[in-house]
Amino acid sequence: MDAIAARRSVRSFVNQEISDEVLMSVFEAGLCAPSPKNRQPWTYVVISNREEKKRFAEQMHAEITRLYSQKPDRQDIIGALDTLEPIEQCSALVLVCYKNNTVVIHDDGIDWNMSAKDVEALELMSVGASVQNMLLRAQTLGIASLWCGDILYAYQFVKKYSEFPVVSAICLGYAEYMPPKTARNEIHKVFKFIK
Ligand SMILES: Cc1cc2nc3c(=O)[nH]c(=O)nc-3n(C[C@H](O)[C@H](O)[C@H](O)COP(=O)(O)O)c2cc1C
Repeated sequence: MDAIAARRSVRSFVNQEISDEVLMSVFEAGLCAPSPKNRQPWTYVVISNREEKKRFAEQMHAEITRLYSQKPDRQDIIGALDTLEPIEQCSALVLVCYKNNTVVIHDDGIDWNMSAKDVEALELMSVGASVQNMLLRAQTLGIASLWCGDILYAYQFVKKYSEFPVVSAICLGYAEYMPPKTARNEIHKVFKFIK
C-alpha cells in the first residue's frame, strides 16, 4: 500500500538518468500484469536519448499549436502544452502501444454477444494494468512518473513510432519535487455493496 499511496503524477524532473538495471526492473513489472487469456496486448517504445526526446517535445509543440490555431476555443488542446516540459525533462519516455488484433473472434460465423469494442476495452484495461504496475514498481525504486495522454493530441506524428496504436506514454525520472496528494472520491460514493 505504501507505493500506491505515495505515488504522484510528477511534472518536474531533475537532469539525472535512470540506470538500465532500474529501468529493466520497472519494465519487468509491466510484463507481470494480468490480461485477457494472457494475450499481453502491449508493446512499448522507450525513448531515453535526450536529443530524440527534445525533438519529440518540439514536434508535439508544433502539432498542438497547429491544432489550437484551428480550434482556439479548445482549452484542453492548449493545456496539453503543459505536458511538454516533463516529456523533455524525464529520463525515459515510454510510449504505450496497444498490440491490437491479437484475437479474431468476430468473423467466424458465431453470433457473439460481445462486440469487438468490448474485447478492445478488456484488452485496453490490461494495458492500463501493465502501465500501473510499472508506475508502482518505479515508485518503490524511488523513480517518479507521469502517465501522459496528452501525447495523443499530436497523434499524427506520434503514430510513426509504432506499427500499433500508441495509446499513451509514461515519463520516468527523478522528481524535482513531489506534488501534494490529489483528492479522491469517498469509498461509499464509488462502491456499491450488495450484502
Ligand atoms: C491515462 C492517464 C493520462 C494522463 N495524462 C496526463 C497528461 O497528459 N498530462 C498530465 O499532466 N497528467 C496526466 N495524467 C495524470 C492525471 O492528471 C493524474 O493522475 C490525476 O490528476 C491524479 O493525480 P495523481 O496521479 O498525482 O494522484 C494522466 C493520468 C492518466 C491515468
